[in-house]
Amino acid sequence: MKIPSPCFVLEESKLIQNLKLIDSVQKKAGIEIILAFKGFSMWSAFPWVKQYVKGATASSLNEVILCNEEMGVKSHTYCVAYGADEFKEIVANSSHITFNSLSQYHQFIDQVPSEVSVGLRVNPEWSDVETDLYNPSSPVSRLGISSKHLENLPDRVEGLHFHVLCESDSHALENVLKSFEEKFGHFLPKMKWVNMGGGHLMTRQGYDTDHLIQLLTNFRKKHGVHVILEPGSAFAWQTGDLHTSILDVVDNGGKKTAIFDGSFTCHMPDCLEMPYRPKLENGSEKKVEGWHPYRLGGVSCLAGDFLDDYWFEEPLKVGDAIVFKDMIHYTMVKTSTFNGVKHPSIGILKENGEFQLIKTFGYQDFKSRLS
Ligand SMILES: Cc1ncc(COP(=O)(O)O)c(C=O)c1O
Repeated sequence: MKIPSPCFVLEESKLIQNLKLIDSVQKKAGIEIILAFKGFSMWSAFPWVKQYVKGATASSLNEVILCNEEMGVKSHTYCVAYGADEFKEIVANSSHITFNSLSQYHQFIDQVPSEVSVGLRVNPEWSDVETDLYNPSSPVSRLGISSKHLENLPDRVEGLHFHVLCESDSHALENVLKSFEEKFGHFLPKMKWVNMGGGHLMTRQGYDTDHLIQLLTNFRKKHGVHVILEPGSAFAWQTGDLHTSILDVVDNGGKKTAIFDGSFTCHMPDCLEMPYRPKLENGSEKKVEGWHPYRLGGVSCLAGDFLDDYWFEEPLKVGDAIVFKDMIHYTMVKTSTFNGVKHPSIGILKENGEFQLIKTFGYQDFKSRLS
């Protein structure tokens, strides 16, 4: 079957390769790794995910329900703030519930059944993340309680959670652990578990998984706690692309723009927010002498929905394919239908080379989000 355009295409073999690596880390380190849905919730792939990891972390009621329905287990749940109208349903479907503040703990703790394990998110105030948009470790961050505001732990707390990394290596985690132990280590003898959040990009080439395993093993033994990691990106890292095609080429004021049937703001918002420049399968994000430069323009009406310049060996023409690499984590989950822009289809490239179309989107999907 031909891949439609636009379409997110997940490659089965690449996902399985990541899952195997993640599973070997959790086994060798004697820890538990769960999937952060916020980074990857393509549930048609969960039958594979479930073969390697037992659970997932949810950050909203919708993700809690998805975990119960499609992973078949209650979720580890952490929401930045719980709403009183949703808390009952969230806690009934969670195995772990983590609060972001003491005020939320006190507001909801009476509604938490005894079998649900309670945690607090703390801020170790160390991170290697240089982009402020992705750095939750500032002393004034709204995410997590800082040590100066946590003199004593409330009775029901049996776990501590932190999340301060993003596409980081194991040496960054080592530094976070030093800061975490300095600031919160005195609570650890009373804790059953420590959740070290996400941002552990163990599936990136060159990541020192042996060092990670060593670190986690040492921490687990030293403190006698169950260790949980909840990466999102690491699961879907380089597992697939966004396939698009060119609808028009315009030349205004000497700037050639290739307009494709997708959009940065609707389908790849991180390219504008972070910002970053994705690689292409069939072009270069860096200048190549003798190649043809084009601005790539999205099909939305946002004036800034473009990335400057990409280089192509041959002049571009209507119908040419533009394939944006590594567009599965944090892209599919962040899309919108702003402008009514056509939502990319979702498909899987199977191990045997066959393409399986999972879902296409149309007018009803656009309409059902509005009224
Ligand atoms: C609390 C928490 N856990 C886990 C993750 C997953 O992080 P990553 O996808 O970078 O591994 C995030 C990402 O924002 C997060 O906020």
